[in-house]
Amino acid sequence: MNIKDNIADEFDAFSTNYTQDMIGCVPYYNELMSHFVDHLPIGFCPSRILDLGCGNGNATATFVQQFPEANYSLLDASNEMLELCKKRFKEYSVDYINSYFQDFQFKNEHFDLIIAGFSLHHCSTDEKRFLFKRIYQSLTPNGIFMCSDLMISKKNPDHPTLKEKWRNFVHQTFPDGKKWEWLKEHYDEFDKPDNLQDQISWLKEVKFKTIDVKVYENYWAHFRAIKN
Ligand SMILES: C[S@@+](CC[C@H](N)C(=O)[O-])C[C@H]1O[C@@H](n2cnc3c(N)ncnc32)[C@H](O)[C@@H]1O
Repeated sequence: MNIKDNIADEFDAFSTNYTQDMIGCVPYYNELMSHFVDHLPIGFCPSRILDLGCGNGNATATFVQQFPEANYSLLDASNEMLELCKKRFKEYSVDYINSYFQDFQFKNEHFDLIIAGFSLHHCSTDEKRFLFKRIYQSLTPNGIFMCSDLMISKKNPDHPTLKEKWRNFVHQTFPDGKKWEWLKEHYDEFDKPDNLQDQISWLKEVKFKTIDVKVYENYWAHFRAIKN
């Protein structure tokens, strides 16, 4: 697969065999996806859920059985990904939003839950900080923001080690090395991960008070931030 010019085209192409590729390319993918539902507070019952960078809907899929009556907003720059979601979530109340995060008009105090699975690492530091502010404002009181992603800056001294371990992981499923060659190029072009501690401090800056890191394995992480 060749690298495309922009994120929408890149993920239109990536959508073809998306889940299998993610499982083979992203350490802890299934585990980190399962933490969205597992780490909801007992009794928390969201009416409106926003999935930022929904891809083919793997994060939303973990919620629909538990919250079949909720309204879901699935946002993604890739139209092909949204088409996959449309087929997948026919029987639920879903709004499909083909947009970049930066262009989305977040309504104030609208969503009870906002989730982001492996999507915010595509945003620059400034974009993340801006998004965290909009996410906070868009949550209802006691609303929750949850995120699973790679959380290490490319300037972190551990970054070369992370890449070495990552390459070894990818080689287990794709031993001919072609997938890693593509992934490396994709990572250089489209991925801008930031350190977990930096992200926590930006969440605090925008007034999130309760922030829990539920998983932090070799820089693959899941956190939950509550607006309270
Ligand atoms: C690695 S996939 C993750 C998809 C899904 N959340 C999951 O966990 O499997 C990242 C998704 O985020 C979308 N995306 C990345 N940057 C975006 C942006 N700035 N605005 C909107 N969507 C974006 C991509 O199109 C892609 O579908």
